[in-house]
Amino acid sequence: MRIRKAVFPVAGLGTRFLPATKASAKEILPVVDKPLVQYAVKEAIAAGAEEMVFITSHTKNSIMDHFDRDYELEATLEAKGKTELLKAVREVLPPGITCVYIRQPEAMGLGHAISCALPAVGDQDFAVILADDLIAGSFQPCLAQMQRVYQEYGTSVLAVQRVPQEETYKYGIVEVEPIGPGLSEIRGIVEKPDPDKAPSNLAVVGRYILTPRIFKILDQTKPGAGGEIQLTDAIERLMGEQTVLAYEFQGTRYDCGSKLGYLKANVEIGLQHPEIGDRFKNYLRDLTDSWGDDEDDSPKQSANG
Ligand code: UTP
Repeated sequence: MRIRKAVFPVAGLGTRFLPATKASAKEILPVVDKPLVQYAVKEAIAAGAEEMVFITSHTKNSIMDHFDRDYELEATLEAKGKTELLKAVREVLPPGITCVYIRQPEAMGLGHAISCALPAVGDQDFAVILADDLIAGSFQPCLAQMQRVYQEYGTSVLAVQRVPQEETYKYGIVEVEPIGPGLSEIRGIVEKPDPDKAPSNLAVVGRYILTPRIFKILDQTKPGAGGEIQLTDAIERLMGEQTVLAYEFQGTRYDCGSKLGYLKANVEIGLQHPEIGDRFKNYLRDLTDSWGDDEDDSPKQSANG
């Protein structure tokens, strides 16, 4: 039993990143040298998925272009003997992996975006990856960890993470009954509760394995918070019909839908980059040393401007 299809909802408006996202997708923003969506696709492939289903909008053509082969570019790199770059370009979409693009006509919410995937997913269990939640730093990528749980239990699995209690208002928060280390059965789910009303500090992050029953439920789900069709509302109903598990994954999650999370991802992943990691570390050390004597602790202009 293996998840073969991964859905990437990339049709959000990305308002927190305007104006960068005015004419292009948030998911195409690079972390060091790869767009966010490429990290997401790599994670899906590592979990065994073979078909990538992108839910796109009219401003997201760059995503389609990114996963298309560019024969002219490849020929130029080959002619110039730039083999490493050629390899990097070819690895964007490995052989045997297919991409399907479906337009979400209007940004009516994450739940609605997922419901648009029905024609490509059909009657199969499937994964959902929100590319703006970048998860790194573990031996096994997050979706592959979830896939292990799915193979054992054969039911829906949501990735969850403990967040500071005062931040529950930013997330879908679950009420759970533990069934094993890092694994629980979800008993309740609330979208963005105030900290004093949150049933726990376990937050749902952008990785899901879902059964196709979710499509029927989404079909009947009325717009909720913000006038959008909320995936959380549909999951709440799914829980009434089937077991839904919460899995505390290993790894570091960067909320790349926010400017601060995006910068953190660039710094931490940049520090590990084989080509520039050491030089970047030296640069950051010099930069932070130069702040040392400042009374107000604010950064000075760096040597590089
Ligand atoms: P977000 O809540 O981050 O919304 O969506 P957003 O519109 O992208 O960003 P902000 O809040 O305005 O800055 C979570 C994920 O769901 C997708 C987004 O692309 C993102 O991956 N999404 C959201 C859709 O595909 N369609 C929608 O209608 C809403």
